[in-house]
Amino acid sequence: MIKALSEDLRNKISAGEVVERPSSVVKELIENSLDAGATEISIVIEKGGHHTIQVRDNGSGISPGDLPSAIRRFHTSKIESVNDLFSIDTLGFRGEALASIASISEMSLLSSNRDGASAELPIVNGIPGEIQPAANIGGTEITIRNLFYNTPARKKFLKTPRTELRKIVDVVRCYGLAFPDVEFKLLADNRDVFHVHSESLEDRIDNLLDPTYSRNLLPINITKGDYVFSGFIGNLNLVRSRPGEQYLFLNRRFIKDRLMNRAVYNAYESLIKRGEYPFFVINLLLPGDQVDVNVHPTKTEVRFKDEWRLFHLLKSEVGNSLDSVLDTIPGFDTSFQQSNSGSSIGDFSLQQSKVSETIPIDLNQNTIDFNHSDTLHPTKSDILRARDYVTKLAETRIDNQSTIATENIWQIHKKYIVSEVNSGLVIIDQHVAHERILYEDALKAFESTSMASQTLLFPETLEFSPDDFDVLFDVLPYLEKIGFKIKKQDNLSVRIDAIPSEMSIGNERDVIREILDNFLKERKEYSSFQEGLAAMFACKAAIKAGDSLMREEMQELVNRLFSTKHPYYCPHGRPIIVQMSLDELDGRFERH
Ligand SMILES: Nc1ncnc2c1ncn2[C@@H]1O[C@H](COP(=O)(O)OP(=O)(O)OP(=O)(O)O)[C@@H](O)[C@H]1O
Ligand SMILES: [Mg+2]
Repeated sequence: MIKALSEDLRNKISAGEVVERPSSVVKELIENSLDAGATEISIVIEKGGHHTIQVRDNGSGISPGDLPSAIRRFHTSKIESVNDLFSIDTLGFRGEALASIASISEMSLLSSNRDGASAELPIVNGIPGEIQPAANIGGTEITIRNLFYNTPARKKFLKTPRTELRKIVDVVRCYGLAFPDVEFKLLADNRDVFHVHSESLEDRIDNLLDPTYSRNLLPINITKGDYVFSGFIGNLNLVRSRPGEQYLFLNRRFIKDRLMNRAVYNAYESLIKRGEYPFFVINLLLPGDQVDVNVHPTKTEVRFKDEWRLFHLLKSEVGNSLDSVLDTIPGFDTSFQQSNSGSSIGDFSLQQSKVSETIPIDLNQNTIDFNHSDTLHPTKSDILRARDYVTKLAETRIDNQSTIATENIWQIHKKYIVSEVNSGLVIIDQHVAHERILYEDALKAFESTSMASQTLLFPETLEFSPDDFDVLFDVLPYLEKIGFKIKKQDNLSVRIDAIPSEMSIGNERDVIREILDNFLKERKEYSSFQEGLAAMFACKAAIKAGDSLMREEMQELVNRLFSTKHPYYCPHGRPIIVQMSLDELDGRFERH
């Protein structure tokens, strides 16, 4: 039964408009379907929702006599008394969504209750028309047409149908991830955007995001008293340079909460940099009295009774799940990181390490293994001093590049290349070095001849959302210059036939995705489109820390680095080379 809320209760519900744009309508309608216990929800959109939004479900339905109440403000079947506000177990409870939507659109409610009683109610100008008998549809179908037809100013704020559709897809994806047991179907302008059946969360993530995601997930499962956290976090392959794939649910409600996001980011510690965002889908299950969802009309903001307890629990649980990632990063010293949380010491952390007397050297690999060393925990002033020192070293120029003795060259920690120069010793970060080379090569290729390609034995098909696909076509000529050979297959997919010869196979999906991600983000830090594209490509395609290099590869890398215009800094401004003079070494060994 849908009943009116008392005056007192109305005042306690934070008032406000819930309909900002088509995607907010979709959100409210899906929430209603889920509250009605639906296991199948299908959404039809025309022209990004400007024209039509229709949501149909197989939930418990509304009785014919209740239809007019459904669109009355502060009428709800979900709560009755003020006390109920403290134990909300439905997504809706304010009794205002349908009323708000009805007041700014042409709406039609068609519903069958569990007994099969069915009726349809048209609503024009917020006023219910005649209730018509209807056939049993086993649930509810709500149709919204001409959104904002009577509020032209708000209509003007609507973005293009394409942009609005993207926001709608985001909303449906969100609920799809929160309710993997529910079937969702989204049709836009007669095209299937997605259709997912009841499945595990892992499969749902693959189906709604990308089929490679499940390979890169780490599970989260914890029960602490009456708190239960579950879901997945992504490993480093799923780290992106724009936010958007952080899904946090509270009792399966999508929420935005900076503190909880920070708990997750902090757990990644220095595995990610500022401006990088890890992937996660985490559902927090909390008793109703531990949280207030009645803070904001859209209900995406909530207030936790004990937010710091939650923060620490979440952070430590995510940290535990990440342990396996830390193990696979060579030489990543977690004890060091933890003891210094808060004070980042940059990449060239001159750790005050006590190297054991005998350093095991694997002659075949040219790799010195420092893993046996103990690490002393440096104090803050040590760190500042080290940072200062490293900065100075990076500024010292190597006068004569030909003096690099490439026959004496080693890789350490699969991350840095060490070599002898006349004046002492140089340390090169292999990733940024390669990044610099690829960056300059790409810029050159844009202006003249294309870079070399390697043909893929098994061409790879990539699928895109309509928006990403449009962006892809803008950058396609540039990708071809860099060495990709890409063919359009149909309206939403392409086939990659060849990739730049310097890129490792299997990386193409990531590289292209990263480039698109960044273009959607509108980066201002690059002075031109070409520079931005070259930098993104270089960063993604370059060899990584952790890649083993053979002697010849190191030699070639160093030689090519010194033929670039700026061998000392990578396109993002990080130093590439650190030099240590013989004087400096002698000083440290007290050889005066
Ligand atoms: N798809 C649906 N299936 C069954 N009942 C529905 C459906 N949609 C709406 N209703 C009924 O109509 C009522 C009004 O819906 P409305 O969305 O306006 O309010 P609410 O969900 O109770 O609260 P809120 O404003 O927070 O969403 C609901 O309480 C519910 O009883
Ligand atoms: Mg509702």
